[in-house]
Amino acid sequence: MSDDDGIGALAVREDVPLRTAMARFASGVTVLTVAGKRVHGMTANAFSSVSLDPPLVLCCVAHSAVMHDAVVEAGHFAVSIAAAGQQAVASHFADKARPDGLAQFEGIGWAPGPHTGAPLLTGAVAWLECALVESHVAGDHTIFIGAVLQSTCGPDREPLLYFDGGYRRVST
Ligand SMILES: Cc1cc2nc3c(=O)[nH]c(=O)nc-3n(C[C@H](O)[C@H](O)[C@H](O)COP(=O)(O)O)c2cc1C
Repeated sequence: MSDDDGIGALAVREDVPLRTAMARFASGVTVLTVAGKRVHGMTANAFSSVSLDPPLVLCCVAHSAVMHDAVVEAGHFAVSIAAAGQQAVASHFADKARPDGLAQFEGIGWAPGPHTGAPLLTGAVAWLECALVESHVAGDHTIFIGAVLQSTCGPDREPLLYFDGGYRRVST
């Protein structure tokens, strides 16, 4: 192996912070919600399918987020997968200054999920309701694994994307 074969030969910026490299990972955008004592919503892109049989998904929530203890207390979470036109909604649920509880949903269309009661946001491309089945502390986040109780698709719409620190749309 010559010196030119290593990753250094490919790098434009070597050994960048994890956040910088992960900004190159294009993702969808979700709003996680819970019902119960502490109704809450939070924008998240650390979300993934885990297993099809049984149907499991995961989301990673920072210990510092209000959503963290809200999920633990509720024992469930719902996921609204944001549509391209929902950038303002995603920004709202990522804003620490938004009000607490139900007030944060004022002016935003939603309906309670039939299984969890968690708000499912109107206009999303798809919704999942999940029972919390496992929690794994990993660094400053917890990986919450949800057993999918119901998954539902809305009308065909483009999803909202997140890439390089900004919201994007699919361009084909
Ligand atoms: C596009 C985007 C994706 C995000 N993904 C996550 C995530 O996966 N997990 C997380 O803990 N925070 C994530 N955040 C940050 C939270 O949305 C933000 O810190 C929020 O204000 C936390 O709300 P809370 O403390 O009221 O629950 C993301 C923010 C943005 C803009």
